[in-house]
Amino acid sequence: MFKKINSCGLLGINAFHVETEMEISKGLPEFSIIGLGDVAVKESRERVRSALRSSSLRFPEAKVTVNLAPADVKKSGSLCDLAIVVALLSLTGEICIDVSDSVFIGELSLGGDIKPVSGVLPMAILSKKEGYKNIYVPFENAYEASVVDGINVYGVKTVRELLSHFDGNCTITPQKKYDIKSVSIESELDFADVKGHSIAKRAIEYAAAGGHNLLMLGPPGSGKSMLAKRLPTILPKLTFDESIDITGVYSVAGLIDKNSPLITSRPFRSPHHNISLPALTGGGSIPRPGEISLAHHGVLFLDELPEFSRSTLEALRQPLEDGEITVSRTGGKFTYPCTIMLVAAMNPCPCGYFGSKKKVCSCTDAKKKTYINRISGPLLDRFDIQIEVSEVDYEKLSSGKKEEPSAAIRERVMVARELQSKRYKNTGISCNAEITDGMLDEICVMTPDAKENFKDAFETLGLSGRAFSRILKVARTIADTENSELIEKKHINRAVNFRTLDRKYWSN
Ligand SMILES: Nc1ncnc2c1ncn2[C@@H]1O[C@H](COP(=O)(O)OP(=O)(O)OP(=O)(O)O)[C@@H](O)[C@H]1O
Ligand SMILES: [Mg+2]
Repeated sequence: MFKKINSCGLLGINAFHVETEMEISKGLPEFSIIGLGDVAVKESRERVRSALRSSSLRFPEAKVTVNLAPADVKKSGSLCDLAIVVALLSLTGEICIDVSDSVFIGELSLGGDIKPVSGVLPMAILSKKEGYKNIYVPFENAYEASVVDGINVYGVKTVRELLSHFDGNCTITPQKKYDIKSVSIESELDFADVKGHSIAKRAIEYAAAGGHNLLMLGPPGSGKSMLAKRLPTILPKLTFDESIDITGVYSVAGLIDKNSPLITSRPFRSPHHNISLPALTGGGSIPRPGEISLAHHGVLFLDELPEFSRSTLEALRQPLEDGEITVSRTGGKFTYPCTIMLVAAMNPCPCGYFGSKKKVCSCTDAKKKTYINRISGPLLDRFDIQIEVSEVDYEKLSSGKKEEPSAAIRERVMVARELQSKRYKNTGISCNAEITDGMLDEICVMTPDAKENFKDAFETLGLSGRAFSRILKVARTIADTENSELIEKKHINRAVNFRTLDRKYWSN
């Protein structure tokens, strides 16, 4: 007797279809699972046996063989437990209904309960794409799967409940579709609270408008962290596709909130500086996306940048260029997306006051050098916009003057973003920071005097090839905020000015 039940597996954040094939034949009682499964898959045998016993169901006294196809892709975890049980119950006659239009995902407990799993959203998306009508998932994951339109989602609590459903004795009600309109994205933070800092605010506005990486350097208490935390309040709202992308990452990481399964606000991740390398980049014995991927389509904020370990920081270099990160583990290679804005804040020296208008720096030259050099040249090169945030004076702090609110800044950001959306329609990119090398000449066209100025600056400042393209992209954004088709001299000059910190702080 042979049966095939549909299920899914996960590779990184991508789901793939798994056919759970089962054969029951005469012979010595045996239960084996083949098809490149890991330890958790092999242990499925014990969970299935025990769950059936606990549900007062019979395990056949026969040779039971399960094959998880395709057999050449490594499967990990317990995602196929439910499909194995359904196959078994179909072959023993407990389930008599045709379930070929359904997909089953879930882990079994020894007591016959269906336990929640990670990655249900990408699996539901795949199942819908492949034309399945129904997806049966653990009850706790049903709301998450209901984000996907066009497929019936059934949340299952126990094996017994599933049997009653197929018997027709007590059918499970399909999960109500997730209502995206019921989400509010208000924030308590606002740029109106930040006094002064007009240049820094303008720089942050450009960063938000073009999706550029930003570095803020300044003495303690000058407002760097305060500025960075308000960045999400001026970023554009997520599109539905971006929401789904991000939710997929959180789903695989097992971080979906049961009550609000769709991520609808741009991620702002702010890991502590003692974070480990796998926690930042992804990986671990059970591979999971790291902070850099949890910030996908959002902001990764590294406060106190030099306090992060050098190896951790250097590991960011390639993913920042590629927009994705690949981690190798014994279970295979996993690729996670990470199209992010990197925002960092730091003091210029260990005491914090080098360059301060208010206090004298007490660090020796050697100490300053060691500290600042924790940020390597190549990493610094990846910050498109680098600014000094110096102390705001008493008059400004105490003036009581209302500063421009985030909503007003955001409106300008949106105008520039809409221009970019139109320009980049069907190109696979969404903002100026993502302009590829091949697109640069066509999109970043300079006026003759802008070109001349840029040449002078390039030679005088000894800029790298990467700095060249990054300055052009920032200049493109500045021009966009002024609705200018060509990049003019003033745009280039402003963009170049955002790249001069290294001459002051990094050159001894
Ligand atoms: N420009 C400002 N307007 C209003 N409040 C400010 C400003 N700058 C600093 N503050 C106040 O000072 C506090 C400390 O600022 P913040 O934490 O941003 O400093 P920082 O530059 O990150 O310092 P550190 O280098 O020590 O991390 C803020 O929470 C805020 O109360
Ligand atoms: Mg700070």
